Parts: sequence; C-alpha cells; structure tokens
Amino acid sequence: MMGMLNSTSPNAMPRATLSEIRKRQGELGQFFTPAPVAEFMASLFGPLPEVVRLLDAGAGTGALTAAFISRLCKKKGRVRAIEATLYELDPLIQETLSRSMRDCKRACVKSGIQFRFTIHASDFIREMSILLSGDLFSAPPPTYDAAITNPPYKKIATDSAARRALSSIGIETSNLYTGFIALIQRLLIPGGQLVGITPRSFCNGPYFRPFREDFLGNLALRRLHVFESRNAAFRDDSVLQENVIFHALKGLSQPHELMISSSSGEHGAAIVESTLPFTEVVHPHDEEKFIHIPSDPRHTLAKETLVSLSSTLGDLGISVSTGRVVDFRHKNSLREEPEEGTAPLIYSCHFNGGSVCWPKPHSRKPNAILDNSETHSWLVPTGTYVLTKRFTAKEERRRLVACVLDAKNIRAKWLGFENHLNYFHANGRGLNRNVAIGLYAYLNSTVVDQYFRRFSGHTQVNASDLRTLSYPNLHSLHAMGTEMQTLDLSQGQIDDLVAKHLNADTQT
Ligand SMILES: C[S@@+](CC[C@H](N)C(=O)[O-])C[C@H]1O[C@@H](n2cnc3c(N)ncnc32)[C@H](O)[C@@H]1O
Repeated sequence: MMGMLNSTSPNAMPRATLSEIRKRQGELGQFFTPAPVAEFMASLFGPLPEVVRLLDAGAGTGALTAAFISRLCKKKGRVRAIEATLYELDPLIQETLSRSMRDCKRACVKSGIQFRFTIHASDFIREMSILLSGDLFSAPPPTYDAAITNPPYKKIATDSAARRALSSIGIETSNLYTGFIALIQRLLIPGGQLVGITPRSFCNGPYFRPFREDFLGNLALRRLHVFESRNAAFRDDSVLQENVIFHALKGLSQPHELMISSSSGEHGAAIVESTLPFTEVVHPHDEEKFIHIPSDPRHTLAKETLVSLSSTLGDLGISVSTGRVVDFRHKNSLREEPEEGTAPLIYSCHFNGGSVCWPKPHSRKPNAILDNSETHSWLVPTGTYVLTKRFTAKEERRRLVACVLDAKNIRAKWLGFENHLNYFHANGRGLNRNVAIGLYAYLNSTVVDQYFRRFSGHTQVNASDLRTLSYPNLHSLHAMGTEMQTLDLSQGQIDDLVAKHLNADTQT
C-alpha cells in the first residue's frame, strides 16, 4: 500500500502538472496531506461497520482515502465493503485521483474487501447545501458512516457564492474549512466518525464561535492531536499554520475524558499522549466555547495558576478593545509627522520594549492623524493604557506582547490606537498608572503565555481572547506596578515578580 500512497503523492506527478497545481493552491485552498500524517489520521478510526460508506470531501489526489483503505486492508477486521465518495473540484488532479482510487481497488481486491468509489468533480459546498436544504424537489442528502478530510483553507467573503450557499442552510462561517466540516457533520449517521485535519484557528476567536457551537453541539470529541512545530506537518507546502487533527463521533454526548496528544510533525516523531477530562478542554462556564488543547505539562500548570485568580476584567472595571482607527479608511487624515491639529496615532511599530516610543522618526507608518469631525469619534482621551499587539511575529517568544503607553510621555489631549492593537482602558479612558504597569507585567508573564497557548494555535491575539483570561485583583496589580521600578525587566524578573504577587493574590 505504501507504493500506492507514493504514486498518489503530488511529488510523483509530472512537473508541469505539479507547477499548475502549485499556482492554483491559493485559489482552491489546496494543501496536500503528507503520507505519514494521512496514515496517522486513518489509524484514529474506531470500529467500523461491515459496509463502510466513506466520504472524502476536498479529496485532492486521494491521500486520505488511500491511507484509510491501506489501514483497513492491513487490519483485516470485519469490514467487507467500502463505498467511497470523493469530492474534488480541481480538474487538474482528477486523473491522479482516479488513478489513486484504482490502486485502492486493487489493494482491496487482494485483501478480500469490495471497493466502490465515486468521484464528484464538483463543488461540495454548493451541492451539499442544496441537498441539505430540505427542498421538496431536491434529492435527499447522502449519509455516511465515516468521513476523513483535510478541507480547503480559505477565507470566504460575505458576498461569495459559498457563503450564501452555507447561510441558506443556517451555517454561518467565514472559512471554507469550517464550512466543509459543518456540512460533513450533517451528512454523518448517528455514531458516524469524522477524522479531520484543519488549522487550529477555530478553537478560539469570535468569528468561529457559531462554528464551535455547531461542532461541539453535534460531534463528540474523542481525540485531539496537535503538531508542536508550526509547519512540520505541511512542510512540503510551506504552510505556516498550527494544525489540529480530531476524531469525533456524530450525535453522542461529550465524553467524560478524551485523549490529547502532540508530536513534532516530523516523520516518525514520538507522540506524547495524555488523557484529560473534557472540562479541561472546553470549560463548562465558558460562553465562548474555546477549545483548549493542553498538550504540554506547562499548559496544565498555567491553568492551575489562572483558575486560582478570581477577577475578571469586568470585576476590575477594565475593558479591552481593538484599536478603533482603521487607517485605510482615513487615508487623507494620516500624517507622517505630528503637526498642528493632529493627534498621535499609535501602531505596534511604536512598541519599544515595555513602553511606547512616539513619534518614531522615519517610521513606515504615519505618526499622527488629523483630529477633525470625521476622525474624532475614533480617538481616545490621552491617558495611561496597556496595549497588546493583535498579530505577533512568528519568531516572537511570546504570543502576547504588551506595552504601556504612559500619559506623561504624550503631550496631546487625544490619541488614536490603530486597528492592529488591542488596548486596555477604564470605560474609554486611561488606567491608574500602577495598575497599568502591573497589568503589563501580568500579560507579559510566561504563565499567561502558556495559558494562552492552550487555546490559541496562531499568532493572532483577539480582544475576546484577553477577555476570557482571569486576572489578579486590583490590589495585586497595583502592588506589582508599584514594585516595578522599570518596564525594562528580563523575562525571568517579570515571572518572579508576577509569581510573588499571584501567590499573595490567591491568599487574599
Ligand atoms: C487542503 S486540500 C486537501 C487535499 C487532500 N484531501 C489531502 O489531504 O491531501 C483541499 C482540496 O479541496 C479541494 N476543493 C477546494 N474547494 C472545493 C470545493 N468547493 N469542492 C470540492 N473540492 C474543493 C481543493 O482543490 C483541494 O484539493
């Protein structure tokens, strides 16, 4: 069977075809699953019925179905027939996909398993949305016992045909991959199994909340697996995404416990497994339904620390918002340098260690924005604010990068925070300076970073992520801020200071 997998790999295809495929990857959200990852995914299925109706939506060159078949042929279990249905839109890989399925058929014949396959060279989203619409004149939707998928990853615009098709059956989502999973879930029979590999981005963030509700409300998680290295699993396609593999069952209740595992994503790398209560993965009172994947013992320790803190941002009278100035909407009001009638405009390029360095000479970004009737409502009164980057560089040590904008360093009445920042404020105004410095230390601590990594597999930091954290009480934040003589501390010094005050916080 390995030979068959190799023959279906894009690397084995003629050069011209491969380069055409590469060109179309962006358009089609196309990334092929490496054979070892496909084999691992196939190994996650539990017992299957004697006749398996298998769905592979976004089949590519068929690597996932091939791995599934290979596994069943080797296992010689009770499965005696497989009916595979594959959807693949790209005309350029149809021939390779058919060849791969013919190889699968030969392998099945040798193992005494009947194999039938149907390839639909059509749009899975469009077809399934029609079939699932319940329209009296359309055929009933097909049903499946098992699905294996690496769906296409691509944002779908609000006015796109895919978005409209999904909306028409009540699926609201902004990415093709979540649209695929939501459809596949609907096509499974009760108890039907889904093994998928997707970006981890659906596990947190406000845009994926309706998807998480749909996913967790209809599929019982059995296993989650993450790759520690951001790009090892899909290295061939240089994808910079943290990916998650999940195994889930349709229509059952969430288990008491499930297995979480991780590996480096390198071929043959060791898999580290642990069994955790489901309540560790989705916290029972979390309205956002974040999916935590504590794949590292430090993630578990971080949770212990954060749950011992009793304050929410609301309790502290503090809010966090996304910077309100969307610069391209105010192009005519942006100024490279401050001048009469302008307000400081703060971008992440103004972050300088723990503080804000403004104005920044020869900056790539404008330093100021005209304060006029069009822009004023997007500005905030000058004060002391804690800022975090919304997008950290992949090389940055921490996912959360915070700094303090100190009122005493800005001579202006109003200022603007650009949309790539989040800012902590008190009802739209600045914070008490010592509390702000304490908050700065807390957000930059390793323990918060480790907690953050439980639910976020990417470098984007949403304001809603920051709202779900628990925080030290005001007294501790103030004490931390008071003790900090300088913002310029090493990571070790920040961690020691935070640990000392968190201990005191939990005892009050
Ligand atoms: C991420 S790739 C995965 C391919 C394959 N399953 C694998 O694991 O190697 C997703 C595939 O979905 C296909 N695709 C994209 N949009 C599609 C659609 N609307 N309907 C069917 N296939 C689609 C792409 O052409 C691509 O081959």
